[in-house]
Amino acid sequence: MLGSGLAPVAGALTGAEPVPYSSFDGWPRTRVPGHEGALYAGEIEGIPALVLAGRVHLYEGHPSSAVTHAVDEVVAAGCRTVVLTNAAGGIAESFGVGEPVLISDHLNLTGSSPLIGAPTFVDLSAVYDPELRTLARTVDPSLQEGVYAGVVGPAYETPAEIRMLRMLGADLVGMSTVHEAIAAHALGARVLGISVVTNRAAGLGTRLDHAEVQRAGAEAAGRMESLLRGVVAQL
Ligand code: HPA
Repeated sequence: MLGSGLAPVAGALTGAEPVPYSSFDGWPRTRVPGHEGALYAGEIEGIPALVLAGRVHLYEGHPSSAVTHAVDEVVAAGCRTVVLTNAAGGIAESFGVGEPVLISDHLNLTGSSPLIGAPTFVDLSAVYDPELRTLARTVDPSLQEGVYAGVVGPAYETPAEIRMLRMLGADLVGMSTVHEAIAAHALGARVLGISVVTNRAAGLGTRLDHAEVQRAGAEAAGRMESLLRGVVAQL
């Protein structure tokens, strides 16, 4: 699953042609620039892979079931490992703009859960698979790790909210991923989460702008592509 600005990575990874989500019955529509919504079915380093370029978000007005629909479908189709990427604001001082960061854990601050209505008391002690994180660090030993705070958006945070998130233990902040990660984990798939730090979080750098976020995501695409290739090759 590729986040903001990273969609171009899909074709390069798989060599496959995009199939628009709109051609699948029951898949939700996405309208956010940078999230065109297409599935690529191909191979990465000789390993069969489905790449989801584009996702839907709670802030578009979609329910959690729509947000997790693509992940639910690919796990049902047999995907055992789900790699979730996203664009995130960097809260931790050590994260530079353009840097990929492994998600070690999350704070689900969306006020909701994909498991509502199908209440299963799922253990979330290790949502982001420790072995996959170790494997990713063997591919790129410079990778840092951080806790991702998942918020609803669509407005970026206020500087006061970022100070609060830092006190709560967040290193990264973004508007996606947490529901998909919970859903995939609950279905028994292994989850790896990678954020691209597209900006310093509010109050820690310059003012925030979606076009800048997309640009920074796109600039990180090459590094993400080689990281994803390296990780998939070792699965
Ligand atoms: N906040 C929330 N979501 C984001 C950010 C941010 O600073 N950057 C990219 N997605």
